[in-house]
Amino acid sequence: MHIMPTKTTKADILIERRSFLDRCLKWAGAALSLSLLYPLLRFLGHKIPPRPRYKTIAAPLPLSGYHAEREFILFNDPQKPFAVSRTCTHLGCRVSYLEDKRIIECPCHQSRFTRRGKVLHGPAKRRLPALAVEVRKNSDGTIKDYVVTL
Ligand code: FES
Repeated sequence: MHIMPTKTTKADILIERRSFLDRCLKWAGAALSLSLLYPLLRFLGHKIPPRPRYKTIAAPLPLSGYHAEREFILFNDPQKPFAVSRTCTHLGCRVSYLEDKRIIECPCHQSRFTRRGKVLHGPAKRRLPALAVEVRKNSDGTIKDYVVTL
């Protein structure tokens, strides 16, 4: 059996080039549609949950019983450690824990919160968000570290 070599004509090359350009345009259109979908969904009020971030705090916590990070305050409660956000629910200033008064206070307009984030004194109306804390232990049962989900 003898196979004849096919000869590529100018018309064939033109058709191949055209179909390649067609495919490129379709992919570009799909990419553009996807890139516009996110802002459109945001505009329509659709909430896309952000990916959670984790912050690990090595044990033991200070004897004061709390550890302040930029984004949260971690309290070492004997029953179960807990963390609250440091972002004030009034206008977003960073709150601080007042150890002597055992309250959280905002330096901007003096809103006050309990250690659990409940509002004691306005102008803030909403409590400080609580953050999940996972306690990881060593094989001997001692606490290895605390993982706070932001
Ligand atoms: S920003 Fe915290 S009380 Fe106003």
